[in-house]
Amino acid sequence: MLYPGIDSDNIQLTRSGELKHFLTTAGLSREILTSILDQAENFADISNKKIKQVPLLRGKTVVNLFFENSTRTRTTFEVAENRLSADVLNLNVSTSATAKGESLLDTLYNLQAMQCDMFVVRHASSGAAHFIAQHVAPHISVINAGDGRHAHPTQAMLDMFTIRRHKGDFSKLKVAILGDIQHSRVARSQISALTTLGAAEVRVVGPNTLLPRQLDKMGVSVHRQLKDGLKDVDVIIALRLQKERMSGALLPGGNEFFNQYGLTRETLRYAKSDAIVMHPGPTNRGVEIEAEVADGEQSVILQQVTYGIAVRMAVMSMTIGSIQRELSTQSGGNA
Ligand code: CP
Repeated sequence: MLYPGIDSDNIQLTRSGELKHFLTTAGLSREILTSILDQAENFADISNKKIKQVPLLRGKTVVNLFFENSTRTRTTFEVAENRLSADVLNLNVSTSATAKGESLLDTLYNLQAMQCDMFVVRHASSGAAHFIAQHVAPHISVINAGDGRHAHPTQAMLDMFTIRRHKGDFSKLKVAILGDIQHSRVARSQISALTTLGAAEVRVVGPNTLLPRQLDKMGVSVHRQLKDGLKDVDVIIALRLQKERMSGALLPGGNEFFNQYGLTRETLRYAKSDAIVMHPGPTNRGVEIEAEVADGEQSVILQQVTYGIAVRMAVMSMTIGSIQRELSTQSGGNA
C-alpha cells in the first residue's frame, strides 16, 4: 500500500536489490519479507541459550532515536542490539538539545559525526524515517520504529512471524484487522505485508469513521459489522483506539465502541475455534478488547513481544550486511 508522497521511490534497497533501510513494508517483494521471517527463525531461540549474543554487529554503533513514547519497540530493539553485540546509544529526546530547538537534521549530523552505523527512529511525523534515510551518509542504515500514521514495519514483521509460527502458510489464512485502522501505522504495514505474503483474505473491521478512504486500493475487504468481519477467520488483530491522533469526535464514546466492536469472549466465537488473538500493544482493556480475551488461551499478545527481538535482530543484521556488501562492491572489494 503506497502512502502519498512517501513510498513512491524505494530508497530502502541497495543497487543490487538488498534491504538497506527498513522504512515500510510497502513496495518490498515477497522474497525480502520472507527472508526477514526466515532470518528471524535463526534468532528465535537465542533467548533460551546460555550465551545469548552473536557477533554480527560487533564494532557497530546503533543509535535509538525515539521522539515518541514506546515501551515494547524501544526495549526490544535495545535487547536485539545487545544480542547482536552492537554498541548502543539511547538518545533521551526529552533531555536532548531537541528541547532547545535543534532541528532533526542537525541532531542527525551530530550523531553521524560520532561514527554511528544505524539509526532506529520513532517520530510522530509520517515520513520522518524516509527523510532521515535521504540525508544520512551511505554507510548508515535507518530503521523505522514507527512514523506518524504511516508505517511500523518491524511491528508488522513480528506480527507476520507470530502468524507464520502459529498458522503456517499465509495462502490458507483469513485475517481480520479490527478497530482504528484510520490512525494506525501498524495496520498499514500489516496490510502491505499480508497481501504481499499472499494471505487468502485480509479484512478490516470497524466503523466508517475509523476506516481510511483508500481501502479499495489496498486489497482488503471492508466489514462494518463485527459478526460479519470475524466470521471464520484464523487470525484476529485488535488495534488500540489511538485517541491521541484523533482530531475531532470520531467516536461515539469508549463504551459504545466496545459494545459494537469490542473483542470479547462472546464475539470471539464468530471466528474459527482455533483462531489466534493478536494486539500490537499497548492494549486498552475494556475499550477494544476484554481482559479475559487479552489474557485468554487464544491470545498470543505476549509472544508477539518476544518474537519482536528475533525479528529486529534479523532486520538489523540484514541491513548492515547489505550496506557492507554495497560499499565493498563500490570500493572494488577494499571496503
Ligand atoms: N507496538 C508498539 O509499537 O508498542 P510501543 O509503543 O510500546 O513501542
